[in-house]
Amino acid sequence: MKTEVRDADIDAIVAQSGRTPDAVLPILRKIQDTYGYLPREALRRVCEIAEITPANIAGVSTFYSRFRHRPAGRHVISMCGGTACHVKGAEPVKEAARRFLEIPSGADTDPGRLFTLTTVGCFGCCTLAPVARIDDAIQGCLTPATVGPLIRDHVARGAARFPVGEWERGNGLSRGAAEIRIGQGSCCIAGGSLQVRLALEQTVRNLGADVRVTGVGCVGMCHEAPLVEIVRDGAAPMSYARVQPEQTERLVLRHFAPRGVLSRTKTWFSSILGRLLTDDGPELFPRNSITLRDPRSCEFLGRQKRIATEHGGMMGPLDLEGYERAGGFEALKAVLARNDPGRVVEEIRDCEGAAAPAFRPGRNGPPYGRRRDATRSW
Ligand code: FES
Ligand code: FES
Repeated sequence: MKTEVRDADIDAIVAQSGRTPDAVLPILRKIQDTYGYLPREALRRVCEIAEITPANIAGVSTFYSRFRHRPAGRHVISMCGGTACHVKGAEPVKEAARRFLEIPSGADTDPGRLFTLTTVGCFGCCTLAPVARIDDAIQGCLTPATVGPLIRDHVARGAARFPVGEWERGNGLSRGAAEIRIGQGSCCIAGGSLQVRLALEQTVRNLGADVRVTGVGCVGMCHEAPLVEIVRDGAAPMSYARVQPEQTERLVLRHFAPRGVLSRTKTWFSSILGRLLTDDGPELFPRNSITLRDPRSCEFLGRQKRIATEHGGMMGPLDLEGYERAGGFEALKAVLARNDPGRVVEEIRDCEGAAAPAFRPGRNGPPYGRRRDATRSW
């Protein structure tokens, strides 16, 4: 985080984002990311070199609570203030964090400017409520007793709990007939699935196992996060709930034999040594094993009607090729090929008629098809 505001830095931000009033939001975001708040000198410079007025800036920066006008601490702890977190005791957790960080009541930053404590909206992983973000790391299931040590642990390691953006990258492993799928939805990530994924990839590389590790969207069992599923040709899929990074070696060995004599010998020695040094026997797994097809899971999952997360559990949310292979974009292709707006509106109207009221698009007003008809007659 920079502390000194230099004209050259602000000029570069404006050059990247644009000089017209519609660029005010990206400019403010970049300034806040650079300094942790919106320094007055930086805003003055923006007004000097762009077609942006102080009123444009005030309109945006006071509308979004994300923008700060006072310096923040080196670490920012954002407590979720959403409904589920509130009900599960976010307030006492926040109070405990405030005491731990020695932030005076009525202030949001400690006198040494090391920590800022704020409240934000839902993070989207309510199954792990109460939730907080410590810098870039999401932490769930907090209690007044655990929040302080978790913050201390995070600061001691001097880094985010996972590399930001890590989950979007390819892992470079070969695509075989077998896959280890790891949930990368918001609950799984908050439960630590990125560390599990990194550990799985490392283990697969070390053992030379012929399997690909793939991040997939929400499986629908967020209370069991992080979830790992082993999928291979000709075998029933096998799932593991609440997997921890230190369990990944045993998990991979259980399903995939290491390749090569050297790898096999090394693995045999290290597993014998591991068993001698720890109490963790092979019985570690039964308590993690679940099958998404057993009657209890089916009863839970079978009632879910998946719309936005239709292919979750099978492919990553950003896997556009996989989405196309699964029949994605068909509606868009049909619309473009047919090129008949009237027919498209008719189809939307038919769908609205068939859908339950709660699932109709635009349920806070008239259905879309009727609205579209109305606007066409203007
Ligand atoms: S209410 Fe806190 S994560 Fe949703
Ligand atoms: S986010 Fe992983 S199962 Fe829902």
